[in-house]
Amino acid sequence: MKIAIGSDHGGYTIKEAIKNYFCDKSISFKDFGTNSNDSANYVEFAFKVANAIAAGEYDKGVLCCGTGIGVSIAANKMKGIRAALCSCEFCAEMSRRHNDANILCLGGRTINSDKAIKLTEIFIQTSFEAGRHFYRIQDIKKIEEKIFK
Ligand code: RB5
Repeated sequence: MKIAIGSDHGGYTIKEAIKNYFCDKSISFKDFGTNSNDSANYVEFAFKVANAIAAGEYDKGVLCCGTGIGVSIAANKMKGIRAALCSCEFCAEMSRRHNDANILCLGGRTINSDKAIKLTEIFIQTSFEAGRHFYRIQDIKKIEEKIFK
């Protein structure tokens, strides 16, 4: 599995912690920035990660900002992206099982690094259940076809 990861300054600390987890577990990833705690625009990094996933270059993404809200709003503007803002284990699991989310969004000012790593681990280890949920995702894709002509 190849993971794309990015953050603004608000999510920088948990992004670095998640990267350490990926290195420990030999999980392949690319960091799309930002590269410090200096103020940065979350839209830039959300776009880079979402674009790489929409293009099929990476399997899943992790995006972090202060709350996770900005990156989730921005990433979800892109066709084929299902970005899920999660702050608990249950939501991280269900975002995969029911929503087939392809980007996990996290808030560096709402959860600590240990929780961010735990939610990331759940997110990348959980499969989509398909079944009735498959048809709901298909309905979302039909809306995308109308919007992105
Ligand atoms: C940056 O201060 C903050 O607005 C950003 O990280 C994020 O929380 C936006 O949704």
